[in-house]
Amino acid sequence: MTEKRVTFASKIGIVAAAAGSAVGLGNIWRFPSQTADSGGALFILVYIGCILFFGIPLMMSEFIIGRGSRANSAGAFHKLAPGTQWKWVGRLGVLTGFVIMGFYMVVCGWTLDYVLQALTGGLHNITDFSANFNNLRSNPLRQTGWMILFTLMTAFFILSGVKKGIEQSSKIMMPILFLLLIILALRSVLLDGSSAGLAFLFRPDPTHLKPTLFLDAMGQAFFSLSIGMGCMITYGSYFNNTNFTQTAVQVSFLDTLVAILSGIIIFPSAFALTSNPDTITEELVAGGPGLLFITLPELFNQMPLSAIWGSLFFCLLALAALTSSISLMEVVTLYIHEEYQFTRKRSTLLVATGVILLGIGSSFSSDLFNLMDLVSAKVMLPLGGFFISLFVGWYLDQKMVAAQITNEGTIRLGIGFLKAYIFLLRYIAPLAILAVFIYGLVG
Ligand code: PFF
Repeated sequence: MTEKRVTFASKIGIVAAAAGSAVGLGNIWRFPSQTADSGGALFILVYIGCILFFGIPLMMSEFIIGRGSRANSAGAFHKLAPGTQWKWVGRLGVLTGFVIMGFYMVVCGWTLDYVLQALTGGLHNITDFSANFNNLRSNPLRQTGWMILFTLMTAFFILSGVKKGIEQSSKIMMPILFLLLIILALRSVLLDGSSAGLAFLFRPDPTHLKPTLFLDAMGQAFFSLSIGMGCMITYGSYFNNTNFTQTAVQVSFLDTLVAILSGIIIFPSAFALTSNPDTITEELVAGGPGLLFITLPELFNQMPLSAIWGSLFFCLLALAALTSSISLMEVVTLYIHEEYQFTRKRSTLLVATGVILLGIGSSFSSDLFNLMDLVSAKVMLPLGGFFISLFVGWYLDQKMVAAQITNEGTIRLGIGFLKAYIFLLRYIAPLAILAVFIYGLVG
């Protein structure tokens, strides 16, 4: 590669880009439906445990691999472990990115459909929100059209380059999204009858304990933080002198906050607005992937100027989805660009075409959609995370790891911190991932 590799311009830009990748449909669409499925508060507790024990350390590990190699996610393993089989971990990540995009872009397409419905006022006049969502889900051509449009939008940003495309859009969009989520959360908890929803969200009910709960929470944590597939390796390769520990903590904190805020928006309003309080939990589960698209428009209709809130929310949701889809596409594109020496343009077009083909498959078949969601979050990402923790914990030279985390000794961290970090990566994270995985599959 003769061209000089770009880096993100500022510390804020780095956090905004990484948080832009992490915060997306995973938090606002997937987290509530997974929480509903797993019975609420207990899921959230386990989820937070996963963020602390795997999420933050693994995100730091990906940053180390990324900045330590300044290469794409597969090239990074080539460079740091030449002549070994570790490159397969990077390749698995590229494949995972592809599989995630295969269904993620379809949901991104739904957000565009809802932007249009909200802007034209249609959403405001609907009474049966479930039927409205099912109309979209049962119309593969409509979904395909939106999915293609979204994929092309993502490709456009990838082509306009890392700095302009990724960093700037994240920096502007994230704070606005945050503010809107806070307003919506307040509106939701102020509805009459919302307290049952808050209890569902925050009071653990041990009867909901089931073996798959841990695997579901772990998969969601990986998915939401964009770890386990080399996305943070790719972004880390664009980092300059930033503090990895601080960045990983900040990004994970923001990401978790957005997920919990989304829960506070969805559940209290679902409990407050239902006409059958006795069956609300079953209703939530039945909402499945449509939960957000069914419950939220109902909340907007309870607010003055509902068309404006609806339009604003779905536009921001589409933008949050865009900064995540950009990061997904960047992983695969950079891999093809650097490993096969294709131009950036050709690599992007190739990836976009593949994604559109997969997206057509999952627009036409909800089985394929669900399969790709399940396999990527609950098998591929944890597997990637497992190997990444082994790689940094066991394979990489600890001096190099220490130099990366302390920026060549310029950041003071206690010696105990580094030891604890390596211990976590060597033993705790891989063993826990393995245990959760096996328990979730056979339990
Ligand atoms: N973290 C994104 C979200 O929560 O929507 C999805 C995602 C992006 C997953 C990038 C994985 C990834 F590499």
